[in-house]
Amino acid sequence: MNIAVVSGSNGLIGSESVSFFADKMDMIIGIDNDQRAYFFGPSASTKWNKDVLEKKYNNYKPLNYDIRDFSSLETVFKQYGSDIKIVVHTAAQPSHDWAAKEPITDFTINANGTLNFLELTRLYCPKAVFIFTSTNKVYGDTPNFLPLVELEKRWEIEKTHPYFEKGIDEHMSIDNSKHSVFGVSKVAADVMVQEYGKYFDMNTAVFRGGCLTGPQHSGAQLHGFLSYLMKCAITKDHYTIFGYKGKQVRDNIHAWDLVNMFWHFYQNPQSGGQVYNAGGGRFSNCSMLEAIDICEEITGNKMNYSYTDNNRSGDHIWYISDLTKFQSHYPEWDYKYSLETTLTQIFENLKSRA
Ligand SMILES: NC(=O)c1ccc[n+]([C@@H]2O[C@H](COP(=O)([O-])OP(=O)(O)OC[C@H]3O[C@@H](n4cnc5c(N)ncnc54)[C@H](O)[C@@H]3O)[C@@H](O)[C@H]2O)c1
Repeated sequence: MNIAVVSGSNGLIGSESVSFFADKMDMIIGIDNDQRAYFFGPSASTKWNKDVLEKKYNNYKPLNYDIRDFSSLETVFKQYGSDIKIVVHTAAQPSHDWAAKEPITDFTINANGTLNFLELTRLYCPKAVFIFTSTNKVYGDTPNFLPLVELEKRWEIEKTHPYFEKGIDEHMSIDNSKHSVFGVSKVAADVMVQEYGKYFDMNTAVFRGGCLTGPQHSGAQLHGFLSYLMKCAITKDHYTIFGYKGKQVRDNIHAWDLVNMFWHFYQNPQSGGQVYNAGGGRFSNCSMLEAIDICEEITGNKMNYSYTDNNRSGDHIWYISDLTKFQSHYPEWDYKYSLETTLTQIFENLKSRA
């Protein structure tokens, strides 16, 4: 039997992974306890997505387990052992800002929860591929010290800089910068995933996401930038831009494109605990002001927003991922979804959910 274990299976990347692997595996086991509703309130609950997936896929088995609870996770790994061929670990406390409210909750979910999955994989299915969704926040605020120039609607890196053409690669230091509490819990997990690849010779891979996005996101003010922005564009709820004149730049990758990266890695895993930057790159990125323009165009509504000079502590001013390393390992992978297509899908999904 070929089984995929997906943690955070109700969430954006987890649910996309369930759908993606449903016709490629005999069974998909999802682990999610709707912790997102605890983090961001009932409107950010991901339970609706569990119900959608359960109706759609007969071979999907959702489990309401907390990833901090080693012994309940162990029942799954004990039962299915080496039939588990891939573990896609996406469950997390995902917000930069929320982590400061409860650092212990953040760290035990992000760091200890990841260690639980790594150790169970090592004990029960050591040949399985282990995918971890890390974040560009592991670089802390180091990108903010790049030479940036201010354009009409966005910050941009100087044309002569090596990162201008393709963005930031995996050589940027993750040390000695301001990460946020969230960034640190993800660093701990990121480095441990690498270590299980290097020390225990397992097939682990770290994908350091830029902004991950797509129609399944349950956007909230503190997490899920494009989804939440589009929600506000539709409802005309108030949106606040925090600092950097609204010109901060994010690269945005559609959840399907990211999970397709996982699939390419699964089919031909590179050894050594690989790390890949994984974002929209030069192909798909926008500033806050540019994203507002696109949302207004798609919805036909004028957005109700205001600006405050206080940027989020440690927030990036300009971040674009360089995917050259991944594409050199997997040259047949390419992006499928542009920013405009993704935002249109988000719009349509939010309208149908409403
Ligand atoms: N969305 C982004 O912009 C982004 C960017 C970079 C990295 N990432 C990382 O990618 C991963 C997936 O992000 P996402 O946007 O799909 O997040 P998400 O919040 O949509 O999904 C995560 C899911 O994990 C579940 N979960 C959280 N804590 C849990 C626990 N203790 N036990 C069981 N389930 C739990 C939540 O209920 C949620 O459904 C995360 O690791 C995140 O840090 C996300």
